[in-house]
Amino acid sequence: MKKPFVYITRKLESDIVEKLGNIAEVQMWDSIEKPVPYDILKEKASKAHALLTMVSDKVDESLIASAPYLKVIANLGVGYDNIAVHEATKRKILVCNTPDVLSDTTADLTFALLMATARRIVEGHEYIKKGHWQDWNPYLMAGYDIHHKTIGIVGMGRIGEKVAKRATGFEMNILYHNRSRKQKAEEELGAKYVSFEELLGQSDFVVSLAPLTPETKGMFNRKAFSLMKNSAIFINAGRGLVMNEADLYDALVNKEIAAAGLDVFEKEPISANHPLLKLQNVVVLPHIGSASLETRKKMMKLAVDNIDLALQGKEPKALVNR
Ligand code: DGY
Repeated sequence: MKKPFVYITRKLESDIVEKLGNIAEVQMWDSIEKPVPYDILKEKASKAHALLTMVSDKVDESLIASAPYLKVIANLGVGYDNIAVHEATKRKILVCNTPDVLSDTTADLTFALLMATARRIVEGHEYIKKGHWQDWNPYLMAGYDIHHKTIGIVGMGRIGEKVAKRATGFEMNILYHNRSRKQKAEEELGAKYVSFEELLGQSDFVVSLAPLTPETKGMFNRKAFSLMKNSAIFINAGRGLVMNEADLYDALVNKEIAAAGLDVFEKEPISANHPLLKLQNVVVLPHIGSASLETRKKMMKLAVDNIDLALQGKEPKALVNR
């Protein structure tokens, strides 16, 4: 019998994918850095039984509709808003992600971004490198305290809970807003459930880890920023499209909020000419929440396991559309 065909949209190390070689014919795009063009992905998908995709690959309705043999799409990431899941479900195609293995790593980065933004770490670094450090003064690079402040987490999933855990070490007051109440976080971390508006009004740090859904799209808009404290710092390490960047820019320029730390953007990669990047009180990163060497390998292995199990007719480890 002909082996199933697996297409992987980046060139991954052979020891990571070798397991699939036993049960399938495996092809990979020839670069780890550059994405596969959409047309090539669509053409490969039309013959594939399994796809291993990145969160930056567009796996839309039209691609899925033209993939008659497809059984499983394994995305490298906990998010899967790049995939038309409803279309996959309609066609009984399994959609998998890589949760849990990245939660601590992403929480570390979220907290690092929060700290870098509050304590002006990047500005200070640039200040010295540009030779501007001539004198010391009492307000030189003075930022905002983190300890004992209020953090408001929007999207209290697995990563949110890990961020909350880190916040306890800084003796912070923890608020959260989520689709559902999180009893464990309330009992073990002392997190308090509040409405979105209350969270915006009371938090010193508003941290978005919300997934992108029709409900969350654009939720951080002009009105949301206007409800935040003038001293508030907005951190987004979830998905860029939950915020309106033009509204965020206005809120920063009009001093409605103090600063922002962003790992995600409406359109990625963000253009180097984007107005937000001209602001001194904005710290930006290129969507690297889960990017530690250890975790990226774990994510790749989990995505491979998901495909391996699905092609053997077994339940994948992390199934999104059960
Ligand atoms: C995720 O896991 O969804 C990240 O955003 C990308 O790795």
